[in-house]
Amino acid sequence: MNETKADSRTSGENDRRILIRERNPYLFRPINFRSVTAPNRIMLSPMCQYSAKEGMPNDWHFVHLGARANGGTGIVFTEAVHTEAQGRITPHCLGLWNDKQRDAFKRITGFISEAGAVPGIQLGHAGRKASVGRPWEGSNPVPLSNGGWDVVSASPRAYAKSWPTPHSLSGLEIRTQMESLAASAKRAREAGFQIIELHGAHGYLIHQFLSPLSNLREDEYGGDFDCRARFLFESIDAVRTEWPNDLPLFLRLSVTDWVEGGWSLEDTIRLAQQLKIRGDIDLIDCSSGGNDPRQKIPINPGYQIPLSREVKAGAGIATGAVGLINSPDFAESVLANGDADLVIMGRTLLSDPVWPLRAANFLKVPEKGAWPKQYERSNIF
Ligand SMILES: Cc1cc2nc3c(=O)[nH]c(=O)nc-3n(C[C@H](O)[C@H](O)[C@H](O)COP(=O)(O)O)c2cc1C
Repeated sequence: MNETKADSRTSGENDRRILIRERNPYLFRPINFRSVTAPNRIMLSPMCQYSAKEGMPNDWHFVHLGARANGGTGIVFTEAVHTEAQGRITPHCLGLWNDKQRDAFKRITGFISEAGAVPGIQLGHAGRKASVGRPWEGSNPVPLSNGGWDVVSASPRAYAKSWPTPHSLSGLEIRTQMESLAASAKRAREAGFQIIELHGAHGYLIHQFLSPLSNLREDEYGGDFDCRARFLFESIDAVRTEWPNDLPLFLRLSVTDWVEGGWSLEDTIRLAQQLKIRGDIDLIDCSSGGNDPRQKIPINPGYQIPLSREVKAGAGIATGAVGLINSPDFAESVLANGDADLVIMGRTLLSDPVWPLRAANFLKVPEKGAWPKQYERSNIF
């Protein structure tokens, strides 16, 4: 994080900032996380492709992720990759619970690295939100009779009416979860990933333990803040047993549930302060919502940037801002204002795989970004 520290700005630097903007936009400055250097501060947000069979990555994932690496994205993250089959969101989601899956990822990480980007993997477990159909099939729970499976959670409370009531994980089952997570982290390293992001957001299993709306336990994993955070801390420890110290670990959180009485911004700041002291998380990817259908999200351009700003300021930890950031100037302003250390982009990069190269042109980066030689003649616009 040396670069970020060096970037801390004062009001007297405005004139200099204009010069920097012309010559050296923040968006295209390299950034270090432990031993890993990303060539710029644009990260492909994890996005499910719902295109796997039995959790196996295939040509779709290779082309999809490879195209974003060729397009100049500095950190290319996979979609949520699940630590066990029952943890998949849909039957078509990716997994890393066996060595065959690990080996299939190697071709993808090799290509991303060769293109000059950093390959990252999001590891997760959907808990009570597992076993649903694809978005284009309605995202509804898939019954057992149709290839679905029983779901698990912190407590036997369904996500919504007409959703299945989950089985509450026992202490022994929680230990098994941690073992699966550690085994997936080991495979991620063997597959050539350089960053893991733990999925603690969007109402999936870790979030289900964090939020008092979904965690009604009375044992050491439920009740007060520290007990509800235990599952997350154990998850981090499990990853770190297999994920070396010189490699970064990100954490995606829903900074707020957007529901009265739910997980809040204050909770996230408190958690982030503890994570900062522990020192094993390198960046908090600041998302929100997903754990309760009653949520009221004030969606507008960059609506989650204030969450990133507050977490960064409140805990002194690196953050990523995500959500409806879609123009080079806007992305640049997030970094220039010190609201985040990375700009994390989903749908913008989904619709335009070479967006970072275009942004480099727009922001007048000296080398115009590193267009692949094969694409150079297209660089006339
Ligand atoms: C098709 C699609 C799939 C997604 N899958 C995931 C996922 O696997 N993991 C995750 O944390 N977020 C997922 N998200 C959320 C995105 O990562 C991102 O946070 C969200 O789209 C907001 O950013 P954007 O406005 O730049 O798209 C998904 C979003 C989309 C559109």
